[in-house]
Amino acid sequence: MENLEAKITQADSLEALEKVRIELFGKKGLLAAEFAKMKDIPGPEKKAFAQGLNEKKAALQQAFDARYEVLKAEAVETMLKAEEIDVSLYGTLAQKGVLHPVMETMDKIIDYFVALNFSVETGGMIEDDFHNFEALNLPKYHPARDMQDTFYFKDGGLLRTHTSPVQIRTMLKEKPSIRMIAPGTVFRRDYDVTHTPMFHQVEGLVVDEKGKVSFANLKAILTDFLQYMFGDVDVRFRPSFFPFTEPSAEVDISCIFCGGEGCRVCSHTGWIEILGCGIVDPNVFKAVDYEDVSGYAFGLGVERIAMLMHQIPDLRSLFEGDIRLLEQFR
Ligand code: DAH
Repeated sequence: MENLEAKITQADSLEALEKVRIELFGKKGLLAAEFAKMKDIPGPEKKAFAQGLNEKKAALQQAFDARYEVLKAEAVETMLKAEEIDVSLYGTLAQKGVLHPVMETMDKIIDYFVALNFSVETGGMIEDDFHNFEALNLPKYHPARDMQDTFYFKDGGLLRTHTSPVQIRTMLKEKPSIRMIAPGTVFRRDYDVTHTPMFHQVEGLVVDEKGKVSFANLKAILTDFLQYMFGDVDVRFRPSFFPFTEPSAEVDISCIFCGGEGCRVCSHTGWIEILGCGIVDPNVFKAVDYEDVSGYAFGLGVERIAMLMHQIPDLRSLFEGDIRLLEQFR
């Protein structure tokens, strides 16, 4: 029966081996035929014959199992080869986008106020005299209008010079109380290292029953906001003037570059001006027919904050569309 073992070792595929298995171990296989001969073996020799046959069967089974392992491994190998992918080949490089630093800063500001339950209002970029000036206590011929160099349309419309008109639009649309911010694009005829004709502001307005909103509330929220934006900075409120707030203040943070020691960025004052704010002027409430209310408002320039955070020396570079600028923020 030596050639039986050869049958097994010569099977060159799993299919061929399966055929051999049936031929040897099957019900009508060669081993079964050998065992069938038992009945013709004389009594005394039966035991030795059976033992020999069983040993032979075990040896064949072992040979079979070994061959099976080899062929199985070969089959897996062949399959892996067929499915092989050359990962060293060049693919198409996917360009990952990056947020413009102004939008990234804007998002960070919005996140803060949204978490405090402020609604986000937008308004439109094209405004009229009433919403942009008049209702904000900037009547015609008011000298404060000179502070803003405005793009006018021929029909008297204008590109909004600040996001403050969204205060007016929101109050005309809704009853008090109000807790809103208005992030958006604004326009002024200005162009130098720190000014571009288009830039971004975030306005804030809180209105509630008379006596419920105080300058102390304003101070607390803006101090917390500025420390959220800039980390552990000192915050100071300086008396100032805006037509739509009374009293008004400008808010400074201790210089984030020198820690208040004095350097070029802060003009050696140790302080950086960051936003304007105040208690809403009664004339503004009059313009929108609000009675028995009090409120505070604030407005800040997004580019100014982005410039500080990323130490961008020339504001104009933010809007030149040079992709290399954005790549620095990847
Ligand atoms: N609108 C002002 C500007 O464009 C910024 C501002 C200052 C807005 C004080 C306010 C405020 O709401 O209270 O310069």
